Amino acid sequence: MPRTFSVLVLAAGRATRFKSEHSKVLHRLAGKPLGEYVLRAALAAQPERTAIIVGHEAEAVQEALARPGVSFIQQIQQLGTGHAVRIARGQLEKWPSPTVIVLVGDVPLLRPQTLRDLVDAHLRERAAVTILTTRVEDPTGYGRVVRAPAKGPKGATRTKRSAASSSSASSSGLVRAIVEEKVATPAERRIQEISSGILCFSRPKLLARLDQLSNQNAQREYLLTDLVEIFHREGERVAAFEVLDSREVLGVNDRVELAEVEKILRRRKAEALMRAGVTLVDPEITYVDEDVEVGPDAILEPGVILAGKTRVGRGARLGPWATIVDSELADRVTVRQSSLIIGCQVAEDAVIGPFAHLRDGAVIESEARIGNFVEVKKSRVGRRTKALHLTYLGDATLEENVNVGAGTVTCNYDGEHKHPTTIERGVFIGSGSMLVAPVIIGRGSYVAAGSTITEDVPPGSLALGRARQVNKEGWVEERVRRHEDESQPVASSSNPPEDEPSGVLEMEPTKKRSEPDLEVRELGSVTVIEILSGLTKPGVAKQLSQAIRDAVNSHRAQVVVNLARVTLLDSAAVGELVAAVSAAKRDGGVVKLSDLSAETLHILEAANLHHFLEIFPHEADAVASFGPPAA
Ligand code: UD1
Ligand code: CA
Repeated sequence: MPRTFSVLVLAAGRATRFKSEHSKVLHRLAGKPLGEYVLRAALAAQPERTAIIVGHEAEAVQEALARPGVSFIQQIQQLGTGHAVRIARGQLEKWPSPTVIVLVGDVPLLRPQTLRDLVDAHLRERAAVTILTTRVEDPTGYGRVVRAPAKGPKGATRTKRSAASSSSASSSGLVRAIVEEKVATPAERRIQEISSGILCFSRPKLLARLDQLSNQNAQREYLLTDLVEIFHREGERVAAFEVLDSREVLGVNDRVELAEVEKILRRRKAEALMRAGVTLVDPEITYVDEDVEVGPDAILEPGVILAGKTRVGRGARLGPWATIVDSELADRVTVRQSSLIIGCQVAEDAVIGPFAHLRDGAVIESEARIGNFVEVKKSRVGRRTKALHLTYLGDATLEENVNVGAGTVTCNYDGEHKHPTTIERGVFIGSGSMLVAPVIIGRGSYVAAGSTITEDVPPGSLALGRARQVNKEGWVEERVRRHEDESQPVASSSNPPEDEPSGVLEMEPTKKRSEPDLEVRELGSVTVIEILSGLTKPGVAKQLSQAIRDAVNSHRAQVVVNLARVTLLDSAAVGELVAAVSAAKRDGGVVKLSDLSAETLHILEAANLHHFLEIFPHEADAVASFGPPAA
């Protein structure tokens, strides 16, 4: 008899024992949705028709499990496995196959050959229904297979061992019922033969009896397994086909079982790889998804993760904790420790990592080298090109034989849009260069280290994009001398120093609070204010303007500011000085400056202030300029 059959997969339930919001068949197992395993096994057994019952998260399940030739049926309310099959009645009526297998969605280790053997046994026995059973140490949670004594005109139903399969003949006769855990008697609970939940039906007989199911039971559900008792009562032949390796029909009902099955699948894949010539230094901690291909003589160090649709060529070497997702690595590629590669292509003999990150369609050509802390996004890196240290290459095209110095960044994003960078062949990019895209670095050019490149560089050029260096010789000695001068004890001042903001003077040697910053002297009608510290020292400029104000307010309108010790002026100090002089003018005062250093004078000249300020070489000149004191 030809082995023609169709398959109905039940996948509408939610993952109650997973304590999950999500459909059980969507939970990931070894990189794929759980439901995909049963579907793959079913399709590999070549059914005439395949339909999947979906309910909880129907849309997502449908998207995850969509295949050509597979149809979906909605079970809006999940009222039990029997109800699910009833929902499919319309399809079942149209299907041509005389035989229908009903599969539960949560038995990922099922093999296609077992389904073929099940159908063969079913047909051989001319059974109305054949249950795929197995024996387990602990049958808790499963439906128990209750055998009927082997007698009567219809005879015992025994399946025979099929040479190619791991299944064996059942050891007892007809099956009387499948008793679910909840309704089982203590004696029934001790039965170790359990139903896998997978049943093979004669299609017309299933359709004829389906409406006899009720939900009048302890579970208040329409239980597909109840059909077994109905068939038996109606005198139909109920057979059992036992799988020897019970793992094959293990139901994944919670996350503990999910992890156990994951381990089995990982181990299977690891063994298949090792038999095919791949070295797994420690298969226990190497995670390779089922669809990943690895060429012979490849070496996978501990912790390697190969996920999705990854392909790894012959002789590749993947270092510890390298993670490769949906990528193609050609022959003899080396990926060093802890690199992450997602959705990329790496050509022969390229070397990646350690600690490299390739993503979003990066293409690395042969013999190229991507080193530590280098990120490559949506870029092409040409043959023999090197980017070995601390670099970001995004939206870039690097031709062959380019050398990218440490710390180079393609500045591809302007805050709104991404822009491309092109680095033509043979270019040398000095370390620490910022390449502001869009930009093209022409063939064979050099970019000086530390450059910020904002314009295209013509082929064969040297591009320098940075400020020229200035060396101030003797600066250190000068600075030390200044501080020594400033810390000499000096005569008393009328103005105690203001509080200094903390931290600002970190570079300066710490000075005692008691040392004054200003000295105020009265020479006849002229008030001389001498700066003792520096005008850039916080608070001193303010003290100076206060001292000028004090003098003018106490009718001493003639003021000389002696700047002999001021060697540095910053814009804040200049601003303060100008403001103080202007304020004094408004109040009828006159302020003159004396003893400016060349640098200070230069700064005031540069700011064009030498016209506004009255400047004298020496204090005495300034004082004399006010004329003899009024009698
Ligand atoms: C089921 C069997 C049990 C068997 C065990 C093997 C029944 C009544 N019980 O129990 O005999 O030992 O599998 O693993 O069949 N589903 C629907 N719609 C529904 C309810 C369930 O599509 O209304 C689907 C679920 O998504 C799941 C499958 O049917 O894929 C089985 O349901 P589950 O709740 O896991 O049944 P078990 O209690 O494990
Ligand atoms: Ca189950």
